[in-house]
Amino acid sequence: MSKKIQITETVLRDAHQSLIATRMPIEDMLPILDKLDKVGFYSLECWGGATFDSCIRFLDEDPWERLRIIRKNCPNTRLQMLFRGQNMLGYRHYADDVLEYFVQRSVANGIDVIRIFDALNDIKNLETAIKAAKAAKKENKNVEAQVAISYTTGEVFTTQYYVDYAKRIEEAGADSICIKDMAALLTPYYTAELVGAIKKAVSIPVQLHTHYTSGLASMCLLKGIEAGCDRIDTAMSPLANGTSHAPTESMVAALQGTEYDTGLDLIKLSEIRDYFMTLREKYIKSGLLDTKMLATDAKALIYQVPGGMLSNLLKQLKDAGKEDKLTEVLEEVPRVRKDAGYPPLVTPTSQIVGTQAAFNIILGERYKMCNDQFKNLVAGKYGTTPVPIDPEFRKRIIGDTEPVTCRPADLLEPELDKLREKIPEWIEQEEDVLTYAQFPEVAPVFFKKRRDKKIGINPSADIKNKVHPV
Ligand code: CO
Repeated sequence: MSKKIQITETVLRDAHQSLIATRMPIEDMLPILDKLDKVGFYSLECWGGATFDSCIRFLDEDPWERLRIIRKNCPNTRLQMLFRGQNMLGYRHYADDVLEYFVQRSVANGIDVIRIFDALNDIKNLETAIKAAKAAKKENKNVEAQVAISYTTGEVFTTQYYVDYAKRIEEAGADSICIKDMAALLTPYYTAELVGAIKKAVSIPVQLHTHYTSGLASMCLLKGIEAGCDRIDTAMSPLANGTSHAPTESMVAALQGTEYDTGLDLIKLSEIRDYFMTLREKYIKSGLLDTKMLATDAKALIYQVPGGMLSNLLKQLKDAGKEDKLTEVLEEVPRVRKDAGYPPLVTPTSQIVGTQAAFNIILGERYKMCNDQFKNLVAGKYGTTPVPIDPEFRKRIIGDTEPVTCRPADLLEPELDKLREKIPEWIEQEEDVLTYAQFPEVAPVFFKKRRDKKIGINPSADIKNKVHPV
């Protein structure tokens, strides 16, 4: 029996987020959108994650306008976004009314597949997002609420842990599940075990997302496919490998003529490859793409911490003149993680745990100093940790403060109207309030530049002499 494997192409989001700090502008996408649309990918991941932040902070691009342009040029392919549940694309928890509005506007502007995840794998932080996505099906029947499991390693993260979480995800109403291995910690044979166990436990499609950092991604994808995985994430080859994904063309070729044949045309893909090759060369020349990012690095597998966390730790230690303490800090990481209820090591918990481990070693005394984020994590403000935190330990960190045991967003008042009232002068479209909600410092700067551009003021113009080259 043949089983067509479906492909999510990530070149417009995760590939450039992983390799060139999310700096691909819409002008570089535009010439190839039509061809990408005609390949027959299951979906094109093109929005969310860090693209929103990068658009307004570095590219002077309206992320909503980018989405509308992609939608217009890709009428035949599902468009996919990534977002962090109750955090949306920002760095705090948002009230439900903001989140519901965000999902609604994302769909109205062109999103079909919404991939939602939570750093703590706390299903409570995903409930509103799943419900909002389901509600959006009324507007667009293609809408899919996909929940991603943040994959991590550690003694409590057994196959059973993931199976239990997968079952809760299905019960919560998700349309599909993604195993999200952002830190490239999966190995091929364990992938087979994990995918097989999850497939047995749920009836919704299972997708695999893994990065090439440690050099194992295509092997993991293949073992995952053999174990029953339905969809995989890949990236067009010029922006694949290294910290990005397995190359799309290679996976299509590997499966061609087998029971898993993707049905995608390698000739069409090769034309698209030629286009992205010119971009790759341009990015290398400008220094945007550092070829170091393309090299294999298995350190994540040795230390069991994500690559980004390792480089952050090294920087913190260097700043403190304590580079020699790296091994001690890396040994302290699992102990801090155990104390903090075993959070998966993904943004933001990887930084929180890493910083605390560094404090503990540098100061020569454990928990002598804790920053607010660590206190918030222990206080339950990010959600429920995979393992309950020892009450004695919690008391030592936050004193008699009552820990949060409910869904953190239940403590938030509706805030959409209040946010709107703060920026009446900048609102040009209803989505602007959502841009502001997520990036309150950067958004007004972006809005001002956008308006200046519209009325023909060049920001580099000589304001004093009222010279405005248009
Ligand atoms: Co990723």
